[in-house]
Amino acid sequence: MAVLVTGGAGYIGSHTVALLTQQQRDVVVLDSLELGTKSRIDTVPFFQGNISDERLIEKICKKHDITEVIHFAAYKAVGESMEQPLRYYNNNVGGTIDLVRALLANGVERMVFSSSAAVYGNPASVPVTEDSPLLPESVYAETKAVMERFLASCDAIGMRSVSLRYFNAAGASADSSIGEDWSMSQNLVPLVMKAILGFSGPLNVFGNDYPTPDGTCIRDYIHVEDLADAHVKALDYLEQGGASLACNVGTGRGTSVLEVIDIAEQVSGRKVPHVVTSRRAGDPTSVYADPTLVRALLGWKATRDLRDIITSAWNWHSKIENV
Ligand code: WQD
Repeated sequence: MAVLVTGGAGYIGSHTVALLTQQQRDVVVLDSLELGTKSRIDTVPFFQGNISDERLIEKICKKHDITEVIHFAAYKAVGESMEQPLRYYNNNVGGTIDLVRALLANGVERMVFSSSAAVYGNPASVPVTEDSPLLPESVYAETKAVMERFLASCDAIGMRSVSLRYFNAAGASADSSIGEDWSMSQNLVPLVMKAILGFSGPLNVFGNDYPTPDGTCIRDYIHVEDLADAHVKALDYLEQGGASLACNVGTGRGTSVLEVIDIAEQVSGRKVPHVVTSRRAGDPTSVYADPTLVRALLGWKATRDLRDIITSAWNWHSKIENV
């Protein structure tokens, strides 16, 4: 019996594959390598291809006795999604429909799905609970919300699922063997590291006039290894017969942009060159999780704090200085 991980060569996928492997679980990765990096997952059986390739899914399921799936594969650039709705809906939503059809045809009936807190849009109150309205504000977030609803409807045809709504994933593996590729991310933490190491100009702080204690936006930064653990606990929950659900995966703590910069300066011992610019369109003032449900149902909670996140990110990105 093996776990199929789609998009397993990606940032969060590869950290989840590493944890499953550490736990001696049989893992198979399917990744198109459009966004993923093969070297991240050199130790497990790998198939390069698309989640819509039903013949390939059948081949993998038969060859490796796949019993469950973690589905990461998706396009996830918020800005790009607004310019390419057809490509995003076709790949993210259409691909997931094709994947589920092929999995059910091969007897696979359990899926952990990579969703996002972006489905909430700009929440009216924080911390965000699962009964907060889904008001996605980008095509990317819309596709995540639609995929969640599609998977929930698949209960009727035998596919049980857990949709994990990630807050802000960041950091790298504790041994610095894998981490985020800053060339493929516009997220805060890798860009902070890039600015410290001089591989970019000063970091743009998108606005310091928000109604927050220091004027900068607040987010819930979660260590990528904690996030990987949530996926494993979701697999166990489904294997034990758990009903389908969607739940937040966050620390429950809000952190501002300037607080991230401050911790990065403490950890690196260097200044983060930065300049305050105008607000970025679409940025909510404050988004952080209420993690009550994930703790109650999956038995998961974050074990690493912001300093752990930033330290792991610094150890990973600063390796470039030794090249
Ligand atoms: C965090 C904070 C920015 C860059 C996005 C997606 C979400 C999820 C995570 C996939 C914000 C500020 C950032 C910079 C800055 N992705 N910032 N200067 O926007 O909260 O969430 O990534 O699931 O779906 O929406 O993450 O890291 O881009 O921004 O000031 O150069 O850092 O304004 O307040 P975000 P982020």
